[in-house]
Amino acid sequence: MCGIIAYRGKRSAGEVLLHGLRQLEYRGYDSWGIALKNGHELEVVRRTGKISASAPKLARHKGLQLGLGHTRWATHGGVTESNSHPHRDCSGSVVLAHNGIVENYQELKRGLQGHRFSSETDTEVIAHLVEKELAGGAPLREAFRSAFLKLEGRNAVVLLSGEELLVAKSGSPMVLGLGDGESFVASDVPAFLRYTDRAVFLADGEMAVIGDDVRLYDLQGTPKPLKEETIEWSPEQAEKGEYPHFMLKEMMEQPEALLRAGNLPKEDLAAAVAMVRKAKRVFAIGCGTAAQVANLSTYLFSCIAEMPSQFAIGSEFSHLKPAINQDTLVIAVSQSGETADLLEAVATAKERGAKVLAVLNVKGSSLMREAHHTLLVNAGPEKAVASTKATTAQMAVLLLLAHAVAGRADEGKRLIESASRAVREMLSRSEEMRALAQRLRDRQNIYIIGRGMNYPVAREGAIKIQEVSTLHAEGIAGGELKHYALALVEKGTPCIVLGSGKDILGNAMEIKSRGGDIIGLSPERSEVFDTWIQVPDLGPASAIVQLVPLQLLAYHLGIARGMDPDYCRNLAKSVTVK
Ligand code: F6R
Repeated sequence: MCGIIAYRGKRSAGEVLLHGLRQLEYRGYDSWGIALKNGHELEVVRRTGKISASAPKLARHKGLQLGLGHTRWATHGGVTESNSHPHRDCSGSVVLAHNGIVENYQELKRGLQGHRFSSETDTEVIAHLVEKELAGGAPLREAFRSAFLKLEGRNAVVLLSGEELLVAKSGSPMVLGLGDGESFVASDVPAFLRYTDRAVFLADGEMAVIGDDVRLYDLQGTPKPLKEETIEWSPEQAEKGEYPHFMLKEMMEQPEALLRAGNLPKEDLAAAVAMVRKAKRVFAIGCGTAAQVANLSTYLFSCIAEMPSQFAIGSEFSHLKPAINQDTLVIAVSQSGETADLLEAVATAKERGAKVLAVLNVKGSSLMREAHHTLLVNAGPEKAVASTKATTAQMAVLLLLAHAVAGRADEGKRLIESASRAVREMLSRSEEMRALAQRLRDRQNIYIIGRGMNYPVAREGAIKIQEVSTLHAEGIAGGELKHYALALVEKGTPCIVLGSGKDILGNAMEIKSRGGDIIGLSPERSEVFDTWIQVPDLGPASAIVQLVPLQLLAYHLGIARGMDPDYCRNLAKSVTVK
C-alpha cells in the first residue's frame, strides 16, 4: 500500500526522499511524487509508473532541507499524475501525503464549497480542510489537528507547511526517525535506516510536530513523551545485496531466520504458554499467507499438545463474534502487524474481553501495540510482496509454542534446528525446482494436495504460485478430491502431492487414473509419482521444510512466465486498507 517518507534536516532532501521511496517500493505502488521546499518555493514532481524509470534531477539548494514523498497504490481515482500525491490546498502553501482511505471524503468535500480541486482523490480533501481551518484563524498545528479529527477511516497523514512537518495517524503505520539535527517520517523503518537507527513508532491517535525539535501530542493536543527505540535491523538486511530479487534473498535467509525464531526469549515464551493454558478457547487468525500459518497452528496444537483450537480468516472473524468472550485467546499471526482486516479482528476480540497474543515479524507495529503479548519471530525485514522467511519463522514459533504448552520446549527447539538444516539442503536444490518450473510454465492450472499439516502447506504453496507467477493454483485437502476437485483433472493436469502416507498416495492414484501428471514432494518415492522430489520427514516440523520447494517453484515459475517475483500483480505488501 502507499508509502510515505518525509525529511527535515541538513542533507539533500531530494536524495533522502528518493532513497526512502525506493526503499518503500516493495509495498506496491503505481505512481509516486515528491514535494521539496526550496527557500520559499515548493518544487513538486509527480509521475506514474516506477521511480527508477523516471526519477528527475531534483534541485539542490542551500539551507534547511525539507520535503515529503509518497508512493501511491490507487484506491480513489485512476493512476494519473494529477491523482498522485503530494496534494495541495488552493494556495499551494499546504502540501501533504496520505496513506489510508478517508471514508467520509465525499461528505467533507461537500462542506468545502469554493475550493478548487485538481484530483479525484480522497486525500486532496485533507489539504483543503486544513486550508479552511487556517482561513478561520487557527494556527497551523490546530488547523491540522482539527482537520485530522474530521477524517473517518484508518489514515496516516504527513503535511508540510512553512518550515514544519506535521504528522498524525489513526490506523495506517507511521514511524519517526531521529537523527543528529535531522528528522524523518516514514511508513516503514527501511526508508530511513541508512541514516539513523533511532525510531519512535506513532500510536493511533497521536500527532507529531517536527520543527527545530520533535514534539509528540495526542489528538486532544496534550503533549506526550517521545518513546525512542533502537532498530536492530542493519541497513544491509533491507537491501538485495548479491541477489537478483528480494524474494530469492529472503528464501535463502530462512535457515538463519528459523534458528532465530527457535531462540525466543524464555520469558516471552513462558508468558505465551500461560495465556494458552489459561484460555478456555483458542482462535488462531491471520490473512492470506498468515491465515495458512494460523490454520497450521491448529494442527500443531492438536498433535503436539493434544489441545483443541480453531482457525479463522482475519476478515471473517467478526462473523464468529458470539463465540468470543473473556475466556478466549486470539493468536493473531502477521508479518507486518499493519493488516487492516487483522487489526479489525483484534479490535473485535478485545471489545469482547478476549486476550490477544501476536505472532509477528515487525517490532513496534500496530499489532504489537494492540496485543496483550507478542512473540516476535525475528525473521528480519521482508520486502518481497510474497512472504517466505516470515512465514516459515511464524511456523517455527508456533511449533515451539505448541511444544512449550506440552511442557517439551527443548524438543521443539531441537526440531527447529533440524528444520533449519533441512531447509538449507532444500534451498541448495533450487535448480531442480527451476527445471520443474520450466516444464510447468505454460500449464493452465496446478493442483496441490495434502492431508493433515500438509493441507495448510498445500494452500500456502498455491498462494505463492498464484501471486508470484499468476498461474492458477489451488491447494486441496486430499480427502476432498472425490467430493469435487476430481472433476477438474484431465490428461496432463499437474498435481503436486505432499507426503507419502497411504491415504495421500491413494488420492494421487485417483488423479493418475484420470491422466494427471503426479509430482511427489515426499520422504519416500512411490511408483505413482511421475516426478519425485525428496523432502525429509521431520515429524511435526516437516511442514516448514515441505513449503520451501513450493516457494522455490513459485519463484522460478514467476521468472519463467516473465513476471517480477518481487512485485505481485495488483498486490501490495502491507494491506493497510479493508
Ligand atoms: C502472501 C502474503 C499475504 C500476507 C497478507 C497478510 O505472500 O504475504 O497474503 O500474508 O496480506 O499480511 P501480514 O502477514 O503482514 O498480516
